[in-house]
Amino acid sequence: MSKKVMVATVKPFAPVAVDGIRKIVEGAGYELQVLEKYPDQQAFVNAVSDVEALIIRSDKVTREVMDNAPKLKIVVRAGAGYDNVELEAASEKGIVVMNTPGQNSNAVAELVFGLMIYMARRAYTGKAGTELKGKTLGLQAYGNVGRNVARIAHGFGMSVLAYDPFVPADSIRADDVEPVDSVEALYDRCDYVSLHIPAIKPTIKSINFALMSRMKEGAMVVNTARKEVIDEDGLKEMLEKRPDFRYVSDIAPDCKDKLLATYPDRVFFTTKKMGAQTLEANVNAALAAANQILGFFERGNTTFQVNK
Ligand code: 3PG
Repeated sequence: MSKKVMVATVKPFAPVAVDGIRKIVEGAGYELQVLEKYPDQQAFVNAVSDVEALIIRSDKVTREVMDNAPKLKIVVRAGAGYDNVELEAASEKGIVVMNTPGQNSNAVAELVFGLMIYMARRAYTGKAGTELKGKTLGLQAYGNVGRNVARIAHGFGMSVLAYDPFVPADSIRADDVEPVDSVEALYDRCDYVSLHIPAIKPTIKSINFALMSRMKEGAMVVNTARKEVIDEDGLKEMLEKRPDFRYVSDIAPDCKDKLLATYPDRVFFTTKKMGAQTLEANVNAALAAANQILGFFERGNTTFQVNK
């Protein structure tokens, strides 16, 4: 019996990306099953009983999914953030979890500018807006997405600062980006702050009123990271107390209806999470995921394992 690899994506990849996965997986003599736009989590749980490898996006690989997949050896999150996989359960069961770092970062970075310009140009209503040139952009975290945002920001003539305690200051400086040594300093000095932090215990709800209220007049926070990092009460307070402040995101907060009704010109949310939703990013991440599965089964390669 050949190994079964499943692509489980509520938000499907572009068809050409799935074709690419198929070529790699079937070319290696494995079987591919594609489960797209499944109606609910139970449908995912029910479908995994004989799979040995999973390729997912933001799909939730819970303990229940793993309990129902006794043959599962590897989960590859085609993308960067893996907060949707229960790592502890995976490690307990000896399941390797990987991501595909960098493969979709340019797509996310380009969306950051799409969102900033949409807001700066007053939602294309024809009202006078503002320009990005000459403004200061703060990157909260300087990983793959942050680096791409910095590269593009320079083309717009923005000054770029970054706060990332895990990246050496010299390597940030090498990109013509000024490292700052506290998150407060980032918010104090920037017109725009773009979030690129993962949703982990120390970051969840960390973007709060105390932090955002430090920003200059006319400030904007751009969130293409995770909705969980925002303290929604703090966001409401900020919008209420600071009529100059704007917030834009491709991952709408739970209180989005209230915010849209109260501050229609100062908040904007895309209908779906779409930072990584480009043909190029889909192909890059999908093919990387398929190749990593092959590398793991054929050569024991665990390079991008995140649950070591
Ligand atoms: C990521 O973590 O890679 C991005 O948030 C993209 O997520 P998606 O694959 O669900 O679009």
